[in-house]
Amino acid sequence: MDYKYKVVITDVYDNVSEIENRILGSVGASVVAGHCKDTTDIIDKAHDADALLVGDLPITKEVFDKLTKLKVVARYGVGFDNVDVRSATAAGVQVAITPEVMTTNVAEHTLALMLTIVRKIPMADNLVKEGKWSDPSKWAGPIPTIHGKTVGIIGLGRIGRAVVDLLRCFGVEIIGYDPYLSPETTHKLGFRIVPQIEPLLTESDFVTMHLPLTDQTRHMIGERELGLLKKTAFVVNCARGAIVDPKALYTALFQGRIAGAAMDVFENEPIDPTDPLLTLKNFIATPHMAFYSDDVHEKFRTEAAKEVARVLSGLRPTNLVNPEVLTQRTRCQL
Ligand SMILES: NC(=O)c1ccc[n+]([C@@H]2O[C@H](COP(=O)([O-])OP(=O)(O)OC[C@H]3O[C@@H](n4cnc5c(N)ncnc54)[C@H](O)[C@@H]3O)[C@@H](O)[C@H]2O)c1
Repeated sequence: MDYKYKVVITDVYDNVSEIENRILGSVGASVVAGHCKDTTDIIDKAHDADALLVGDLPITKEVFDKLTKLKVVARYGVGFDNVDVRSATAAGVQVAITPEVMTTNVAEHTLALMLTIVRKIPMADNLVKEGKWSDPSKWAGPIPTIHGKTVGIIGLGRIGRAVVDLLRCFGVEIIGYDPYLSPETTHKLGFRIVPQIEPLLTESDFVTMHLPLTDQTRHMIGERELGLLKKTAFVVNCARGAIVDPKALYTALFQGRIAGAAMDVFENEPIDPTDPLLTLKNFIATPHMAFYSDDVHEKFRTEAAKEVARVLSGLRPTNLVNPEVLTQRTRCQL
């Protein structure tokens, strides 16, 4: 069969499924699994691609320069900090995402990390398995609860608000910080929104992040911000690792300037197994898995394939992150 278009799935673990074959086959596209290890591999294996379906690998200016037939990049999920959107726009390439589908999973994982770190579950699990059953008041130090505490939420988009919904039954006070909310939205949320981040940091017992990684938010939680937290505070990050300065976090945890931290995301992934953070008892880590469940995996692959099919059919994707590309000649019009 002659195909009009070629679509490459870039990520190393992903194979082509019935989902991509069905959706993209219907618009005359063949789908290939690139199993790419890095950006160079993408340029090599997808040099003649019309579209990319991408996960976490960096999609750089070089990719947009070298892949001259490329028309659309669909990123699984909502964060697109690994895609050089400016270069995509300059090259006339549309960039689409699949928001919504992962929201509940990430919100649940955030709650799971909060409960795990505050209830010292990994430590307790290890001790029981080592045969060291004992009175918890003797081995664990103080074990706080979430109930009755103040939770600071940085970023009140889809996931931040889903976390708020889950927290409602915990009897907590919520403080939010999101400078991009409209006054109407702020009013409707019905909890305290602070115009500056500082009161959230000084008053919260838990601080959780649900904002994108951008030039402005890189290391926005650094030494100064961690220094404002209570000594008993916990930090949870299911957004992007680089929002928190890892060196400052290590120092704050090591010196006991905060009580603990739980992270699903890291500045460099996978995290180096010799990273000093991983030696700390008051730090717990999961491997960027908050978004994942089998049903959601199927949904975001379906949504991403549909976005590519729309662009290859001459339609606008539903979740286009660089709409300014449409005011110039896109590669679909060349
Ligand atoms: N760990 C995972 O598996 C996983 C999965 C999905 C998403 N994420 C991350 O979660 C982030 C949030 O996802 P979402 O669906 O809620 O996105 P969203 O776009 O719906 O919400 C992001 C919110 O952050 C706010 N924001 C932007 N800059 C800010 C700043 N400087 N300070 C405070 N708030 C700011 C925005 O105004 C917006 O309300 C994504 O950008 C992504 O990086 C992680």
